[in-house]
Amino acid sequence: MNTKYPGDVHKKQRKIVAPIFSVPQLKSVTPIVYDIAEKLAGVLTGEVRTKSSSFFSKSTVAPNGYVESNRSGVLDMSEWMSRVALEAIGKTVLGYSFDPLDSPHNNPYTSAIKELIPTLFSLSVLRQFAPFLSRLGPAWLRRKLVEWAPHRAIQKVKDISDIMDQTAKGILREKQAEGAGIEGEDKDFISVLLRENEQAEPGERLSESELTGQMTVLIFGAQDTTSSALSRILYLLSTNLDVQKKVREEVLAAFVDQDRLGYEVISELPWLDAIIKETLRLYPPVPFVRRTATKERTLTYSSTTSDVVDASVTVPVGTTLFVGIAGANRLESVWGQDAKEWKPERWMSGKNPALIRLPGIYSGMLSFFGGGRSGYRFAQIEMKILLATLLRRFKFSLTQDEIIWNLSQIISPSVRRTSADECGLMEEKGLPLVVELTDAQ
Ligand code: HEM
Repeated sequence: MNTKYPGDVHKKQRKIVAPIFSVPQLKSVTPIVYDIAEKLAGVLTGEVRTKSSSFFSKSTVAPNGYVESNRSGVLDMSEWMSRVALEAIGKTVLGYSFDPLDSPHNNPYTSAIKELIPTLFSLSVLRQFAPFLSRLGPAWLRRKLVEWAPHRAIQKVKDISDIMDQTAKGILREKQAEGAGIEGEDKDFISVLLRENEQAEPGERLSESELTGQMTVLIFGAQDTTSSALSRILYLLSTNLDVQKKVREEVLAAFVDQDRLGYEVISELPWLDAIIKETLRLYPPVPFVRRTATKERTLTYSSTTSDVVDASVTVPVGTTLFVGIAGANRLESVWGQDAKEWKPERWMSGKNPALIRLPGIYSGMLSFFGGGRSGYRFAQIEMKILLATLLRRFKFSLTQDEIIWNLSQIISPSVRRTSADECGLMEEKGLPLVVELTDAQ
């Protein structure tokens, strides 16, 4: 049994994992992200040219005056963002291709991680008991109890976690067999992690299950969040065509005589940076997180205005708290009276526009929460490369479909439609957008 305090175990894991998020490591994987972004652009060009309105062809209503041609079509951009985010994280984290983007079939892993969050969300009440259940005897007994549980969602979570675990184990063993940890020079995060692990003191090393756990957390933490953010950005750019034009002009000017921009250059394009920051501020893909107090604390609130009184509340050990990321990111006291509006220009001065700095790791917002363990640097560079590559080659605009954003642990888009049956309304996952080739192709 592990007698260490959970925080100590986490610290040990973070120490080994930290180097994979360093700037030099991120720089070394940017060519992989460019390769994937360019491949996606090629595949989307083919989709637009050959099957103009592929995924939503029967049901999507294009805007008035929209004429289908072999230069534009309606594509489900949330599906593409999901696929590209998995491929990017698979290739950079594991050196493994889950989805070469040109295959018609999703990998079972892709479906598994897509279904995990909604399934876990449906088990929210039961999950309150997870801390107690995790202390119920040895692992084999807990496994048996899960297998016996007569509950469809529990069985689904078991199957999903089995697929994730087996895939991670398979990849790890392949890497170890290739000698990635010892003398390899592969740039993917897991090869780096294996090398770090080999060099660590014996007591500090991660076990096989800790390594596969890290792999799964990385893939899982990176895929849905990034694809949710990218989908929202494309939707907002389709809604705000003037901003889209400005970002495209900036990108085209930067790429004028080169195919790829270096890490620093692309990181500093002001409009590209501003649309990402403003979207993650107003629409954080993870709108809240849950935490359990391990120490008693008294929280105080001091008002800066006279109409709200100062207050304090004591939080006892064991209390479960929901931390409202979206709420904090939209506070007028922090962002000003226009806090609830999407205004990328608020970031253009080069100074942080927040009146009070929130304790978040990323530009004074809570979108990536507070810890130094999240992959915010990776997400930034990945999104910048993907968006720049897409905006150079495509224009995006809305169809007449009503898009709604589903509140779950990670927010995702759906189309609301009127159904023929008595329910009246139905929702279909996806984000249909009109995608048009730019003059660059
Ligand atoms: C726009 C994209 C992303 C957003 C909004 C986001 C947001 C978050 C948030 C809010 C947490 C805290 C969750 C919690 O404590 O319950 C988190 C944790 C984490 N994220 Fe991300 N993330 C993004 C992309 C990424 C990427 C690309 C990676 C990896 C390359 C990554 C890796 C992680 C890891 C490892 C954790 C910590 C898990 C732990 O130790 O508890 N994330 N992220």
